[in-house]
Amino acid sequence: MRALVLLCLLPVALARKYDWNPRDPNRPTSTPDPNAVNACQKTDQYCGCCMMVQETNRLQMYFNEVLNMVEEEYNKTEQYLNMINDSRIAFSVALNNESKMNCIGPFRENTSVIYRTVFLNLGDGYNMSTGVFTVPRSGVYSLALTVYSDAGTPGGSLAACATLQVNGKVVAGPSERNMQDQEDSVTIVVALHLKAGDKVAVNLPIGCFLCDDKSHYNTFSGFLLYCTE
Ligand SMILES: *[C@@H]1O[C@H](CO)[C@@H](O)[C@H](O)[C@H]1NC(C)=O
Ligand SMILES: *[C@@H]1O[C@H](CO)[C@@H](O)[C@H](O)[C@H]1NC(C)=O
Ligand SMILES: *[C@@H]1O[C@H](CO)[C@@H](O)[C@H](O)[C@H]1NC(C)=O
Ligand SMILES: *[C@@H]1O[C@H](CO)[C@@H](O)[C@H](O)[C@H]1NC(C)=O
Ligand SMILES: *[C@@H]1O[C@H](CO)[C@@H](O)[C@H](O)[C@H]1NC(C)=O
Repeated sequence: MRALVLLCLLPVALARKYDWNPRDPNRPTSTPDPNAVNACQKTDQYCGCCMMVQETNRLQMYFNEVLNMVEEEYNKTEQYLNMINDSRIAFSVALNNESKMNCIGPFRENTSVIYRTVFLNLGDGYNMSTGVFTVPRSGVYSLALTVYSDAGTPGGSLAACATLQVNGKVVAGPSERNMQDQEDSVTIVVALHLKAGDKVAVNLPIGCFLCDDKSHYNTFSGFLLYCTE
């Protein structure tokens, strides 16, 4: 009898601990397990124990719902973190990494510049075999292009020029063509709103030529400032 009384008091004590505020709009709602309710009606003489079964059942439901809410919050946080992780997009490449100065061009037709030395390619947007950066996520990007050339001899004709293109359209075309300097360098930096899938590339127009070695005078870089989708 004493044990029964103690058992009957136990759920009352537990009930206080998990009695959440009924006015809380975030309070989980639930319906009691009908099996537990029926069990009590069938076995009147063990009512105390039955009440405890009911309370345990309520407690279990409560914790399951709270656990579910926590899991939903966890899932949302994980999705958000994945989104932040996926938006780490940055690339920076240079023409070559050779100890001797090496030039590409001049060619008789427009030619894509392929930067073979990759410093960084977060998000894998830059393709080393084509030289094209394919925009992984829509957003505002910062793009920078530095070109350098060496005429080889003083008084030689210099054509340090290239064009930055998005989907084949010229965005900017840094150019230094003259016979006064043996070497010259030009840089452009732009911020552009690009869409996922856009192709960013550097074109070497007819007659232009670029020279480089392991000092990396020719670089092409870009990074995502912020996503727009
Ligand atoms: C949380 O995500 C997992 C796997 O992505 C899924 O199985 C589970 O149902 C989600 N939980 C909630 C409460 O949305
Ligand atoms: C973050 O993204 C990189 C690829 O850019 C991936 O290798 C890594 O597993 C990701 N980390 C998480 C926590 O998702
Ligand atoms: C360039 O080559 C040197 C060795 O000559 C190497 O140590 C270095 O990591 C290379 N740089 C890149 C960016 O590949
Ligand atoms: C070569 O590219 C330039 C821009 O860089 C463009 O104006 C010209 O039309 C192109 N020529 C050919 C033959 O595609
Ligand atoms: C780079 O582009 C080539 C030619 O389009 C393609 O075959 C290759 O799979 C691409 N590489 C990567 C890593 O996407």
